[in-house]
Amino acid sequence: MKLSLLPFLASILSLLLLVDCLNFTVLHTNDIHSLFEGLGPDSHLALAQGHLARMKYLINKIQRLAPTRTLTLDAGDCFEGSLFHLLTISDAYSCESVPPLELTFLSDAGYDATMFGNHDFDAYEEGLLKILSCANITTTVPILSNNIELNLEDPTCQGFHSMQAQPSNEYTLPSNYKRPTQKTKILPHVLKLIKDEETNETVKVAVIGFHGPDSAGLSYPYRYNDATEKPDAKAYVDWIYNAVTEIKNTHKPDVVIMLSHSGNDEDFDIITSINNMTPPEQQPLVNLHISSHTHFLYKREAGNTTLYQVYAYGSILGVLQLDFDGKNLKVLNYNKTIPEVVYTDGITASTLLPTHINITSDIPMDEVYFKKIEKYTKLIDSAFFENFEYKYSTFLGQVPTNYNATYNFYNYVCDCVQKKLNDFVKPNPPIHAFFMSQSGIRSDPGYMTSVNATSFPFQFSDVYRALSIGTLNKDISNNLLPGDPVVHFYFNHTEFVNWIKWATIIGVVDSDFAITFADTVQYQVSNTSGDVEISNVTISGVPLEKFSKYIHTGMPGWILKFYVEIGQSNSTNGLVTGKFRNEFGLFMNLPYYTEYHEYELLAACIRENNEKQ
Ligand SMILES: *[C@@H]1O[C@H](CO)[C@@H](O)[C@H](O)[C@H]1NC(C)=O
Ligand SMILES: *[C@@H]1O[C@H](CO)[C@@H](O)[C@H](O)[C@H]1NC(C)=O
Ligand SMILES: *[C@@H]1O[C@H](CO)[C@@H](O)[C@H](O)[C@H]1NC(C)=O
Ligand SMILES: *[C@@H]1O[C@H](CO)[C@@H](O)[C@H](O)[C@H]1NC(C)=O
Ligand SMILES: *[C@@H]1O[C@H](CO)[C@@H](O)[C@H](O)[C@H]1NC(C)=O
Ligand SMILES: *[C@@H]1O[C@H](CO)[C@@H](O)[C@H](O)[C@H]1NC(C)=O
Ligand SMILES: *[C@@H]1O[C@H](CO)[C@@H](O)[C@H](O)[C@H]1NC(C)=O
Ligand SMILES: *[C@@H]1O[C@H](CO)[C@@H](O)[C@H](O)[C@H]1NC(C)=O
Ligand SMILES: *[C@@H]1O[C@H](CO)[C@@H](O)[C@H](O)[C@H]1NC(C)=O
Ligand SMILES: *[C@@H]1O[C@H](CO)[C@@H](O)[C@H](O)[C@H]1NC(C)=O
Ligand SMILES: *[C@@H]1O[C@H](CO)[C@@H](O)[C@H](O)[C@H]1NC(C)=O
Ligand SMILES: *[C@@H]1O[C@H](CO)[C@@H](O)[C@H](O)[C@H]1NC(C)=O
Repeated sequence: MKLSLLPFLASILSLLLLVDCLNFTVLHTNDIHSLFEGLGPDSHLALAQGHLARMKYLINKIQRLAPTRTLTLDAGDCFEGSLFHLLTISDAYSCESVPPLELTFLSDAGYDATMFGNHDFDAYEEGLLKILSCANITTTVPILSNNIELNLEDPTCQGFHSMQAQPSNEYTLPSNYKRPTQKTKILPHVLKLIKDEETNETVKVAVIGFHGPDSAGLSYPYRYNDATEKPDAKAYVDWIYNAVTEIKNTHKPDVVIMLSHSGNDEDFDIITSINNMTPPEQQPLVNLHISSHTHFLYKREAGNTTLYQVYAYGSILGVLQLDFDGKNLKVLNYNKTIPEVVYTDGITASTLLPTHINITSDIPMDEVYFKKIEKYTKLIDSAFFENFEYKYSTFLGQVPTNYNATYNFYNYVCDCVQKKLNDFVKPNPPIHAFFMSQSGIRSDPGYMTSVNATSFPFQFSDVYRALSIGTLNKDISNNLLPGDPVVHFYFNHTEFVNWIKWATIIGVVDSDFAITFADTVQYQVSNTSGDVEISNVTISGVPLEKFSKYIHTGMPGWILKFYVEIGQSNSTNGLVTGKFRNEFGLFMNLPYYTEYHEYELLAACIRENNEKQ
């Protein structure tokens, strides 16, 4: 008896060891920003990084290696950034004939969940509800959101409510990557049983979505606590702690993955606060945090929680191969012998992939999806550009990529826009100083300058992608171009220098706020132990003190709201007034409006520069 007990025990032990111990893969993206054709020239896709047809090919390839052991997640901001989002928002086509393109991609590619980012609110409540009501009958990817509170007295919010599910309910996704027939809903979490296809062992994973404070503050309109209009990090941390605890108590997941539209360092700080609240025996409350929002590429550890973000624009796919041993979740070691390039052939379920794969032209396109994207570009032309000078793929010319320390792509854009603005509007005096926020120039100059070429072919879609910020509503059509037109007004000398000073200081704190002037404006910055001074300002070569009393300044219309708010916030020690002067120095309620958008002006300038050559 005794002797035969040993093998018996051993087999029980081996069974016990198998329980809740398996590996699975999490594929993740963030901040796709409607960049269906990726970063880079749309007319030369071999030079582009990204492209959703490549992304779909790679995702589906990896999903099929281990169909019941793969989770595919997106961390928000899939909407807004290229001409494609216009199709999503506009009324030009019916919902059924052109469903929301971004949610359609996520559904087609078998994503298990996405979430809201700040840009997903760019079309305001009305636009977002339009998108969601259509997703409600056409797409399947669930949208995770645990901390959106609706004002049910508002009829628009009632529309959202009809799609929003209760936290206590169970939402279990099928174990394979095929999508459920259930259409897109706003869910607090999803559960998925990861199943080892050989042993049938399972691990229950809960994916929970939250909208982070910084992203809430940048959403249109502000999405903090509406009563105080202030972010409350402590309340947010408590909210996450309680929501995750409730889901753990109710559904008993083995692993918790948090999707949050929170970049560095907010994600790290919040996870650290949550870990500090969590009793040791329950550590970590959240096993993995899939991050987004700040467009960085990183892996960070906050206690026993791992945080990942994979840049933006669908140009990198995050690939986490995770091993769950019944208690801890470990990221399997990156197989350094595999170069960080293509995995189209010969990979098996046991291949260790790197933690992220760059979507380069080495990755084949999913042919069906490629054709679908081409079809969208034709729909864009017929919906918006029939009466417009440029079409989606109108070739404009070469744009330089070889810049230096004093002249970069931002200067090129500002110069171009200022020049054509003066040509078209013919203001008298001309606009002396056109500036833009660097965060509003989106063609990713870093990527452009990294390409081994002295110039880049630009077509109209590339220009729109570079400058596609501004108000959108469903009325955009052939007669109404998207975005806010350029505005102009006058500064006095003090205001002008103070504005540069504030922008210089804030630009160091947060590069999103850094501004660039057209090359007509030159100045020196000195910084003696934190005392920032702007000096030697010249405009078109004329020293400021010899320049006319009021400086004619132009800026993108979308900056207006921020400029006024900064002025009213009292946070700049009087450096920014948030006010507008006319040519006589008198204050006006609003600046002068033009009928031109930055993208039209840049397109005209690129074309002209190339004709001259
Ligand atoms: C979503 O669909 C459900 C039926 O499945 C319907 O009751 C609800 O009103 C729809 N919501 C919106 C916003 O269209
Ligand atoms: C796993 O489940 C399948 C289907 O239920 C069954 O055919 C198979 O024998 C099971 N394998 C093991 C190792 O239990
Ligand atoms: C992480 O987990 C290990 C194993 O459970 C534990 O020993 C360690 O204290 C944890 N570290 C932190 C920072 O919580
Ligand atoms: C992948 O892209 C990142 C971000 O652009 C870059 O830093 C890295 O060098 C790229 N890796 C490869 C192998 O190209
Ligand atoms: C993951 O688990 C599967 C199924 O048990 C196994 O075939 C594979 O080798 C494992 N992969 C790694 C990287 O451990
Ligand atoms: C690492 O990659 C090499 C080359 O593809 C492969 O031969 C090896 O099996 C991989 N190692 C693991 C542990 O997957
Ligand atoms: C930088 O480039 C600009 C524009 O091409 C040029 O005018 C300037 O002289 C260059 N500066 C330096 C320091 O090379
Ligand atoms: C990159 O530029 C260098 C220098 O101009 C050139 O020798 C090389 O062939 C280029 N490489 C590619 C891949 O174009
Ligand atoms: C310029 O504007 C600032 C702030 O609006 C004001 O304090 C200052 O007196 C003005 N300077 C002149 C010379 O008008
Ligand atoms: C000025 O210098 C201080 C350190 O003395 C630094 O913290 C700050 O970021 C600098 N500001 C600018 C605008 O360079
Ligand atoms: C401003 O210009 C003068 C004369 O060219 C020069 O001596 C001075 O160093 C400059 N100031 C700064 C802060 O660069
Ligand atoms: C800014 O200061 C003014 C005058 O002191 C005050 O009326 C206003 O409420 C303040 N604004 C904010 C946003 O604090």
